This record gives sequence, structure tokens and C-alpha cells, in this order.
Amino acid sequence: MSSAVSTVITGIGELATNDPARAEGGGVLGLVRDAAVVVEGARVVWVGPAVDAPAADVQVDAGGRAVIPGFVDSHSHLVFAGDRSAEFEARMTGQPYTAGGIRTTVAKTRAATDEQLTSHVARLVAEMRAQGTTSIEIKSGYGLSVHDEARSLAVARQFTEDTTFLGAHVVPADTTPEDYVDLVTGPMLTAAAPHARWIDVFCEDGAFDVDQARAILAAGSDSGLRGRLHANQLTYGGGVQLACELGLVAVDHCTFLDDDDVSALASSGTIATLLPGVEFSTRQPYPDARGLIDAGVRVALASDCNPGSCFTSSMALCIALAVREMRMSPAEALHAATATGAAALDRDDVGVLAPGKAADLVLLDAPSYVHLAYRPGVPLVAGVWQAGRPVVPR
Ligand code: NIG
Ligand code: FE
Repeated sequence: MSSAVSTVITGIGELATNDPARAEGGGVLGLVRDAAVVVEGARVVWVGPAVDAPAADVQVDAGGRAVIPGFVDSHSHLVFAGDRSAEFEARMTGQPYTAGGIRTTVAKTRAATDEQLTSHVARLVAEMRAQGTTSIEIKSGYGLSVHDEARSLAVARQFTEDTTFLGAHVVPADTTPEDYVDLVTGPMLTAAAPHARWIDVFCEDGAFDVDQARAILAAGSDSGLRGRLHANQLTYGGGVQLACELGLVAVDHCTFLDDDDVSALASSGTIATLLPGVEFSTRQPYPDARGLIDAGVRVALASDCNPGSCFTSSMALCIALAVREMRMSPAEALHAATATGAAALDRDDVGVLAPGKAADLVLLDAPSYVHLAYRPGVPLVAGVWQAGRPVVPR
């Protein structure tokens, strides 16, 4: 017998488990009505109808409200300093989004102390947690020097194991593309690798082309980092095809796709991570989530929280946009923001509420998960448990 404290959350009007074993009758979300969940230590130990729930040390009554798995936000850029609201304001009066704005943040990030960067990330992570996000990926990419990329990742590592080296975000002002790719694949990678699980490249006009991305991902792989890619965000191009050819677990943005890109995604199994907050905040067309899903592509949703193209930390907003603007069903959108987000990080311990999985749960102040899209902009998160600990309210 374990000595960990057990908690039963009962009186759950609607529980979304994402458990494939409950898919029959429960849909993709594996819904259970009038449910209970028992948590022991950091894990879920029991899920089922409330009337059958075993006793536990602590009892919490959800009062008929809905419980969902914590959101898994598989794409964020939280390590930065400075403010770019003026750039957003200019965009809203007609200026296009360009990759070049990244350099503004690089200057501010290099000038910040480690303590300033850490407290800024802590504030954003707390903001995410309060909105129901219990797992996050955090990228570097605003340091762009050996020292500043390594310290950005060391800061990120204090908050998550899913850290991503994005030295290849843009070429900094004081160097050539050739020299910079040599730096990224050489000394910068050596300094970054101990703090990172993933490597990413912004494969786009104005950033890095397909050949450069291929070389950078290959060097990362040689250093034990797994690849992911920013691709087809601003233009059509070969990034998505490269991700599929390399068998990457996920390729992110996927806004401008042709038929061959969609076929490549469907046959490779590479997850398309859509970031609708970016299209909202840059006034671009939204990616065709409906077409992707209907073609058999696995779709995840993430925030892309960053100071330039999208400064939201709200996964609920992303779900609402995916439903309203990208024709995902509310169930598809929640699944994409939880279980498929976890898959996009190659994690099977989170995103699903079943015995043995992480006890990362969100209590909504609503009778159904549908309210996440039905009540856009309304703070519906009434409680969050992360690894079994109640973290919201604190
Ligand atoms: O995911 N696309 C590249 N990187 C970020 C934007 C970075 C910035 O503008 O600061 C993105 O959209
Ligand atoms: Fe991004």
C-alpha cells in the first residue's frame, strides 16, 4: 500500500478522459457522466461512475461541473524581455507581420539578467496554469548567441523538461546566414544541448530555408535532440514536406499548405500543430483544420505564446478560435489541446485521465467542456490539480 494522500473528486457532471478505452459511447473525449476520479500522489488511480468510487482520504465535490485533462501547450516562446505591443498596433492598422520583429526582442533579451528572465517566465507560467495549462513546451530563440541561447534554455528548464533549442529563429543582424548556421550547428548547439530535449528551426522566407533547416536538424539529432519545425506560417514552401520526410513528431503552424503537403502529413503521421492565436493576432487566414482532419491528419492546438506574432497564453481562446474559425468540433478542439498536444511532445503520461496517468485535471465552472468554445473570453477555470496537487486556487 502506498502512503500517498488520496483524493476523490466526485460529483463530476461530465468528465472528459481522452481514454481510448472509453471511446465507445464516450466519443473521442471518452466522456463519462456523473463521474469521479481518484488521485493518489501525482497519479490518477481510478476513474469511473461516482456511485462506484472507492473511499479516499480527501473528498472534493465538483457539484455537477465538468472536469477535463489539463491543457498541454506544446509550443511557446516564453523566455524573452521587452514589449512589442506597438508592433501589434501597427499590424492592426495595416502593417504585415514579418520575421524581422524577432530582432527587437533579441536586443531586450540579451540585456536582461537571468533573474529578470526567470521571473518573467515564472509569471507567464503562472498565468498559463491559472487558465488550465498543466504541461508546456518552452523554446529559446531570443538570445541568438552561444551564451544567450544556453542561458535562455537553462531558465526554461526550471519550468519544464520540454525545452527546445531554437537558435535558428532568425539570423542576427551582425552576421551572415552561412556563418550563423555554422554557429548554430557548432558551438551554440554544444552549449544548448545539455539544457534541451528538442531542436526547432523557423523554416520560412526571411528566416531559414529548407536546406539550412535540414542541416540544423541533422546536427541536433547528432547531439541527441529531437526535431520539430516552424513551417508554412507566412508562405507556401518545403518545410512541412521536410518535417514529414524526416518523420518529425510535429510540424507547427501549417497555415499555407498545398495538396501535396496535406498528403505528406496524412501518410507520415507527423502531427500538424495549429496555432490559431497567431492568425488572430496577425490577421492572417486561418489554417484549414477541417480539411486536415478530414484528410486523416492528426491535429494539435497550442498557444505559440510569444511577444511578436501572438501574445496569448490562453488555450481556451485557441479552442474557441479553432471551433469558430477552423471548423473543428468542440470535442476535436479539446482533444487537440490535450491528448494530441501530449502526442506532439511524444508524451503518453499526460493529456489523458486514466489510471497511471499524471493527475493533471481542470475543474470548469460549467456543466460541459463545450463551454470552452461557447463562452469565449470567459474565465471558466475553477480549479487546477497538477501532479495531484491543487495549484488553483492557491
Ligand atoms: O512562432 N514564427 C516564428 N516565431 C514566432 C514569432 C516570433 C516573434 O515574432 O517574436 C512564431 O510565430
Ligand atoms: Fe512559434
